[in-house]
Amino acid sequence: MIIAIDGPAASGKGTLARRLADHFGLRHLDTGLTYRAVAAGLLANGLPLGDEAVAIEHARYLDLAQMDKSVLSAHEIGEAASRIAVLGGLRDELVRLQRSFAETPPGAVLDGRDIGTVVCPNATVKLFVTASAEARARRRTDEMISKGQEANYASVLEDLQRRDERDSKRTVAPLTQAADAVLLDTTKMDIETAFRAAVDIISRAADA
Ligand code: DC
Repeated sequence: MIIAIDGPAASGKGTLARRLADHFGLRHLDTGLTYRAVAAGLLANGLPLGDEAVAIEHARYLDLAQMDKSVLSAHEIGEAASRIAVLGGLRDELVRLQRSFAETPPGAVLDGRDIGTVVCPNATVKLFVTASAEARARRRTDEMISKGQEANYASVLEDLQRRDERDSKRTVAPLTQAADAVLLDTTKMDIETAFRAAVDIISRAADA
């Protein structure tokens, strides 16, 4: 069983993916972390973000088990990840890793931007999780404040909109809803309601 979850930044897809993996007894891969890990390696070594050959070399040595979400969630790493995500050859390398994770029994939940369209086009079920930019910015701001970080709603919103634009407009594997994905708009849902809606959609698809 492979569950593909795509959606924009701060849509709640990561939290949902983790909880769905627990619920259905599957492994989970946050594919954004693979782009972040490569970006972090380039930044740490002072290497340019636009050099595809260097980025691919970093991707070849990536160990999915060693990716540390708490380190990789830094804002500047997310920005750099979004920039290197336009490199087609790098994407091919990371997609290869992501597919082999997905295809290892008993299957997995993968979340990202191109899971339903590129990484796992034959997934058992595909969800496209979204929410208004304002709702996502509000959640992201609250989350940062709850971690004791400084956060300004207006700049978080601006940041998310810039990231959405870059992720949706790039020519290689842009963020887009797969034709056979089910749309889950969580603008007016809390995480519990969104989780229950997702379980329903997946259970129905798996029984079909
Ligand atoms: O979901 P995230 O914020 O951790 O992702 C960081 C960046 O990585 C995002 O701006 C775009 C890119 N990304 C991608 O292009 N494809 C994916 N499947 C996952 C992330």
